[in-house]
Amino acid sequence: MPEIQLFKVLLALVVVVPRVLAQSPIFGQVGSMHCVVQGNSTHGIKFRSFSVETSSSTSTTKSSTSTTKSSTSTTKSSTTTTKSSTSTTKSSTTTTKSSTTTTATTTTSASSGTACTVTAIAQVSSATASCTSIVISNLAVPSSTTLNLSKLKTGTTVTFEGKTTFAFTDWDSDLIDIGGEDITIIGAPGSIIDGNGQAWWDGQGSNGGVTKPDHFITLKSTGTSLLQNLHIQNWPVHCFDITSSSGTTITGLTLDNSAGNAPNAASGGLPAAHNSDGFDVSSSTNLIITSTTVINQDDCVAVTSGNNITVSNMVCDGGHGLSIGSIGGKSNNDVSDVLFTNSIVRNSQNGARIKTNSGTTGTVTNIEWSNIQVSNISIYGIDIQQDYLNGGPTGTPTNGVIINGITMSNITGTAASSAQNYFILCGSGSCSNFDFVNVAITGGSDDSCNFTPTSGNFKCT
Ligand SMILES: *[C@@H]1O[C@H](CO)[C@@H](O)[C@H](O)[C@H]1NC(C)=O
Ligand SMILES: *[C@@H]1O[C@H](CO)[C@@H](O)[C@H](O)[C@H]1NC(C)=O
Ligand SMILES: *[C@@H]1O[C@H](CO)[C@@H](O)[C@H](O)[C@H]1NC(C)=O
Ligand SMILES: *[C@@H]1O[C@H](CO)[C@@H](O)[C@H](O)[C@H]1NC(C)=O
Ligand SMILES: *[C@@H]1O[C@H](CO)[C@@H](O)[C@H](O)[C@H]1NC(C)=O
Repeated sequence: MPEIQLFKVLLALVVVVPRVLAQSPIFGQVGSMHCVVQGNSTHGIKFRSFSVETSSSTSTTKSSTSTTKSSTSTTKSSTTTTKSSTSTTKSSTTTTKSSTTTTATTTTSASSGTACTVTAIAQVSSATASCTSIVISNLAVPSSTTLNLSKLKTGTTVTFEGKTTFAFTDWDSDLIDIGGEDITIIGAPGSIIDGNGQAWWDGQGSNGGVTKPDHFITLKSTGTSLLQNLHIQNWPVHCFDITSSSGTTITGLTLDNSAGNAPNAASGGLPAAHNSDGFDVSSSTNLIITSTTVINQDDCVAVTSGNNITVSNMVCDGGHGLSIGSIGGKSNNDVSDVLFTNSIVRNSQNGARIKTNSGTTGTVTNIEWSNIQVSNISIYGIDIQQDYLNGGPTGTPTNGVIINGITMSNITGTAASSAQNYFILCGSGSCSNFDFVNVAITGGSDDSCNFTPTSGNFKCT
């Protein structure tokens, strides 16, 4: 469009849009919400994800379709996973473009869903009730408050921008609840979600001390949902509780709890942060976690129940590795079809592990780790143990949790000399169909395996 015409259109919109919005019943109620149109007297008008409603949800669907397509093949192939995230990125670029060009649908889409910016906690409930494009901008969440995004309207996009902060509360409620169908949660470039973990950290995590939010963020997303580019730091105990979710892709996140490695005044010389799992996954299906860095002090990813979960292109630093478990004694004790692939696990207690709880029942079926590079492992490179009780090993395995169909392929790297490269402690008859190929972790000693993989070229010692 020639510039002069564009200018006319923009000028017309400056005049018309605010009127339409002022008359719109939705905007009539918004009151405290910051409305989207930001005029700029120098440069005409600035649209902020405006008509995007219709077009963005369309292209979001598109992008997720391609994600879905490629990930069908991804359950076993990680190369395609990378492709799928590329296509996601591509289509979000398209979304951005369309928001600047589709001005015609502005008014109609304003009635089907509005865009809103939240800068104070009091604006959250009206925004989630009426908006499908929400920007959380430099929000300071006060004490005794959960950032409640648990009932987002279908198709909502939430963008975090600036720094989101949380005041200390001596309680066990989660600090952010996210839920909805076909939702997209985005971190704008440079944005940070800071859990203020320092206010809770006492070296004890969930084992005692200060009452702490059990998880920082609870996610229950369905349909075709996407979490992308969030930068999260300093969470109090566990970070994500992903439960009862399906069809969700998590990509490009950074979870950085490195500040919790150092002791503080309350931690008695221990790392201040403890039990700081990155992603805890339960009762979830068709989930992808990819291209994400987790720096923490406990499991990078821990899957305790669910089906069809792919974890790829991770960097896990400082924690307890890529884990299944602990399994047993929970409301759901079945986990199947999980793939951990193309990832780095470093400076961690374990690389790949399965832990099941003593005296409980459950099933662990068809789990694969492939192309995992480990380094500076301090306890076990590969760990499968069926003797957990109250969060620690007893040394005596039980066989109520059935582990069937475990593949380890191309797991290489180094463990510390005080570590064991491999540790397998199965219950009597409860492990079967292990296929270990090209597993080579070195540097540790005293490897111990009471079950020999049924196929592959693996030697325990
Ligand atoms: C308006 O334009 C001026 C000049 O380019 C720029 O400095 C300012 O940031 C703009 N304001 C908004 C709200 O976009
Ligand atoms: C969160 O907000 C939803 C509405 O968006 C409401 O139904 C729900 O009760 C709220 N949750 C809490 C814990 O207040
Ligand atoms: C597994 O999950 C992926 C990603 O959501 C999905 O594309 C695929 O169809 C699912 N596979 C099955 C068998 O449901
Ligand atoms: C090895 O990992 C531990 C954490 O398990 C860390 O404290 C130590 O600094 C790491 N060593 C090197 C050389 O990175
Ligand atoms: C083995 O895994 C490493 C680390 O992920 C990867 O770089 C390498 O390409 C893999 N090798 C093969 C043969 O797949």
